[in-house]
Amino acid sequence: MSGSAVEYRLQPVSRVAGRISVPGDKSISHRAVMFGALARGRTEVSGFLPGEDTLHTAQILRQLGVAIERSAETSLRIDGVGLHGLRASAQVLDCGNAGTAMRLLAGLLSGQRFASTLVGDESLSRRPMRRVMDPLLRMGACIAGTQAGTAPLRIEPAENLRGIDYNCPVASAQIKSCVLLAGLYADGETAVTEPAATRDYTERMLAALGADVVVDGLAIRLRPGRELQAQPIFVPGDFSSAAFFLVAGAIAPTGEMLIENVGLNPRRTGLLDTLVEMGADIVVLDRREIAGEPVGDLRVRASALRGVDVPEARVPDMIDEFPAFAIAAACAAGRSSVRGAHELRVKESDRIAATARGLATLGVEVEEFEDGMAIEGRADFGGGQIDSRSDHRIAMAFAVASLRARSEIRILDCANVATSFPGFPKLAASVGLDIGVFA
Ligand code: S3P
Repeated sequence: MSGSAVEYRLQPVSRVAGRISVPGDKSISHRAVMFGALARGRTEVSGFLPGEDTLHTAQILRQLGVAIERSAETSLRIDGVGLHGLRASAQVLDCGNAGTAMRLLAGLLSGQRFASTLVGDESLSRRPMRRVMDPLLRMGACIAGTQAGTAPLRIEPAENLRGIDYNCPVASAQIKSCVLLAGLYADGETAVTEPAATRDYTERMLAALGADVVVDGLAIRLRPGRELQAQPIFVPGDFSSAAFFLVAGAIAPTGEMLIENVGLNPRRTGLLDTLVEMGADIVVLDRREIAGEPVGDLRVRASALRGVDVPEARVPDMIDEFPAFAIAAACAAGRSSVRGAHELRVKESDRIAATARGLATLGVEVEEFEDGMAIEGRADFGGGQIDSRSDHRIAMAFAVASLRARSEIRILDCANVATSFPGFPKLAASVGLDIGVFA
C-alpha cells in the first residue's frame, strides 16, 4: 500500500474510557514464524499479530518452502521443515517496512546452501544494514548490499560459517538475533555480547525449542548442532501498541481505561517506569506468566504529569516508545529530556526529527539534540498538520495528542500504521478519540 494515501483527522476530545486489548507482539510474532519454520514438527501460534510486517515474514517463509496456514485471524499453523529444510525462492524476498524481518533473515539465510535477495520498501531501503553485514562477513558469510550499506541484500551460499565472539557496538536485539541465527549454521560456538541488555525473545525462544543457548550477563552463547523441536507459541499483546493507549489515558483530562493481556517483559516496559515517575496513575493488575513471558492488565487513569529526564540506561527498554513518550512530555508540567538515543535517527523514520517537527507544529517548545531532545510541557497546545513520514509510531503518537489539542490535528502518510497495529483507528475511536480516516 502506498504510505502517502491515508490521512488521519482528529478533532479535540477530553475523555477516553473503555476496556480494550491490543494486537499481538510484533517482535515475538516475527520470531514465532521464523523459528516455527526451522523447527521439526507443527507449531501452533496464537495471538499472532496480523500486521503487514509480520505477514511479510510469513510470506517469505512460504516462498522458502514452509507450509504456513492462517488457521484464524490471529492463529498460525506452521509445518516446520527443520534447520536444513528451507528451499531457494526464485523471487526476491520482500520484507516491506520490517527491519526485524530483514535483519534476522539476513542471519538465517547466510547459513543456507542457496542464494537469496532481501528487499524492502523505501524506508527500509534507507536503513543501515552494515551493522548486520559486518558480523556476518566475519563469520564467513557471502552477503552484499549497496555501496551505502543498505538493502537490497544479496546473500550467496557460504563455504562454511565460523562461530565468532562478537562485541556488538550497538544495543540492538536485531543485530544480536541476526548473529545468533547465523550461529545455528556455524562451526563452533557463537557468542554475542551486548553493550546493554535488549529484548531477549530470540535467546528465550531458541532455548525453549531446544537450542543450546546460555545467557551469561550481557553475553549470549549458542552452540550449534541441536535440532529445534516445535512448541506451541502464545503471543501476548504488544506493549509498544499499548503504549499509545497508556499515554492517551494518562494525558486525557478525564477517564479510565483497562488494557488487557499486555506483554510485560522488562526489556520492553521502560515507558511504564517513566510514566509512573512522571506521576501517571497506572497500575498493573493480575500480573501473570504465560509461556514464560510476564503478562498483565494495565489500568490507567487521567493523571497530572510532571517532566522527567529519562535515564540513558533505560533507553533500550523503551526504544520504540519515544514518540509516545514525547506526547506525554508535552503534556507534563516542566521540562523533560532524553539523551543517548541516537538510534532513534535510524528507525522507520528519523524519529528525533519527526517528533520534534511535529511538536513544534503544535506549538510545543522542543530542543533537538543529535542523540535526543528536550520538551517543555504545557497545559494544552494547538492543532495543525503533521507529517508522519510514513512512520507508524509517529502517526499513532500524534493521534493521541488530540486529547490536549485545541483544534484539529491532521496526520499525513498513515498507511503504515497497518504494519504494526491493524485496526488502530477503530480501537482509538472505541475509547473516545474522534478520528477520521481519509484515503
Ligand atoms: C526489534 C528490535 C528493535 C526495535 C524493533 C524490533 C526486534 O530494533 O526497535 O522495533 O524485534 O528485535 P533494534 O534492534 O534496531 O534496536
